[in-house]
Amino acid sequence: MTETKTHLLLVEDEASLRLAVADYLTGQGFAVEQAATAEDALARLDDFAFDVVITDLRLPGQSGTAVLDAALNRYPDVIVIVVTGYGTVKDAVTAIKSGAADFLTKPFQLDELQLVLQGALAVRRLRSENAYLRAQLQERYRFEGIVGRSRPMRVLFHLLETVAGTSSTILISGETGTGKELVARALHHNSPRRHERLVAINCSAIPETLLEAELFGHVRGAFTGAVTTRSGRLEQANRGTLFLDEVGTMSPALQAKLLRVLQEREFERVGDARPIRVDVRVIAATNADLAQLVKTGAFREDLFYRLNVIPVRLPPLRERREDIPLLVQHFLEKLGAEMQPPRRGVAFSQAAMRRLMRYAWPGNIRELENAVERALALSPGSAQIDVAALPPSLQAVELVQEEQDVVLPEEGLAIESYIGRIEHGLIRQALARTSGNKRQAAELLGLKRTTLIEKLKRLERALVEQDGEPHPSVEAEA
Ligand SMILES: Nc1ncnc2c1ncn2[C@@H]1O[C@H](COP(=O)(O)OP(=O)(O)OP(=O)(O)O)[C@@H](O)[C@H]1O
Ligand SMILES: [Mg+2]
Repeated sequence: MTETKTHLLLVEDEASLRLAVADYLTGQGFAVEQAATAEDALARLDDFAFDVVITDLRLPGQSGTAVLDAALNRYPDVIVIVVTGYGTVKDAVTAIKSGAADFLTKPFQLDELQLVLQGALAVRRLRSENAYLRAQLQERYRFEGIVGRSRPMRVLFHLLETVAGTSSTILISGETGTGKELVARALHHNSPRRHERLVAINCSAIPETLLEAELFGHVRGAFTGAVTTRSGRLEQANRGTLFLDEVGTMSPALQAKLLRVLQEREFERVGDARPIRVDVRVIAATNADLAQLVKTGAFREDLFYRLNVIPVRLPPLRERREDIPLLVQHFLEKLGAEMQPPRRGVAFSQAAMRRLMRYAWPGNIRELENAVERALALSPGSAQIDVAALPPSLQAVELVQEEQDVVLPEEGLAIESYIGRIEHGLIRQALARTSGNKRQAAELLGLKRTTLIEKLKRLERALVEQDGEPHPSVEAEA
């Protein structure tokens, strides 16, 4: 399942030479398929996106040139190496002109072949690194790039460690800004496929009509505007990872096609009847509740199960408020270092931090990152960022009782029941504000719903035991 070998097609009619080369290359770690004729090679090219084709130019039926042309036509990224007879350098030159990566002249030594192959593979790696890696992946993502120490995050890290090494399909769900893309990239970079591409496609950002061609590729003339044959993202992700973002927005027709890819690892380009096979790990993400979309019929159930092999749910920030100071620190350092001149040692005042920790963060970590960036910009040159530099929504956060210092009365007080009363009062206020909705009330208080219910029961019992009836003083301040 985790195989990311280089797939090589060897076309040679001389059986003894072919077997010797195939043996050698297999020993070098390549996945080798053999063909004795151009016709056989063409059939295999129809079926599979090989990485490398090595073909003799002189073959019994059609010549190796047909193999070269067919391979390059279909797979613009394929490496083709041609083998020519002694004294036919002219053929080799022609082949290079039509797109062959290199050539070998018979008879050749096996280490000569090895050298030519490594050279061609290195060139291709460079090409793909230039095109993809440099553009999107300046830094290497490790799990350590994902900040969090709360319980939900520790559970998440453990899950990521467990599944990163596999090729299983993963469905990441979570509200906007919870780090779905970050996690997808981390999974890829911790997988055996990390040396291959991570190709991302956002299903909601591309118009329905273009999405199919974008995903599966198209042949020339498949539709108006299809002036060339183009490989799709699936093919580009061969042996690597495909990140399907916002998969919940896919149309029913595309859902059916995607299902087939997941089941059979096979698809056709738009306008083409020939199937293409790929070895791709799929990581999908959604901020919609896919199970719910299945219920309403907007998402195929069979596809849902195919995608949901390993569900990874990212908790909203308000469910792990204890990570907020850590994240704030992380963004202060990261954004501060990017500034000109760099700013170090900046911190939020306690009053500002209290608001950061109280706020509901509907935009989750992205919103937090933006708030930190804004705050840095609004307090140039100072080491401490205060409330005034926070966005209005955060300045408006109510801090209820927290700000007031409690003065210990002369006669002292029973601390347990005093705190119990404050807790009870806050819970009652939260319930009043949310019209009795316990889940929302719990959210307001940064508690789990079950914790809130437990607390409420325990507090009411304790208060009744202590003084016969719940103490009204705290509620009165609402
Ligand atoms: N745990 C984390 N630690 C550090 N940074 C994080 C974390 N989670 C998310 N981020 C940062 O927050 C921002 C939003 O993350 P990302 O784009 O992955 O979210 P998303 O879930 O894909 O959002 P959307 O649903 O809007 O596409 C990014 O800049 C990302 O680097
Ligand atoms: Mg995203």
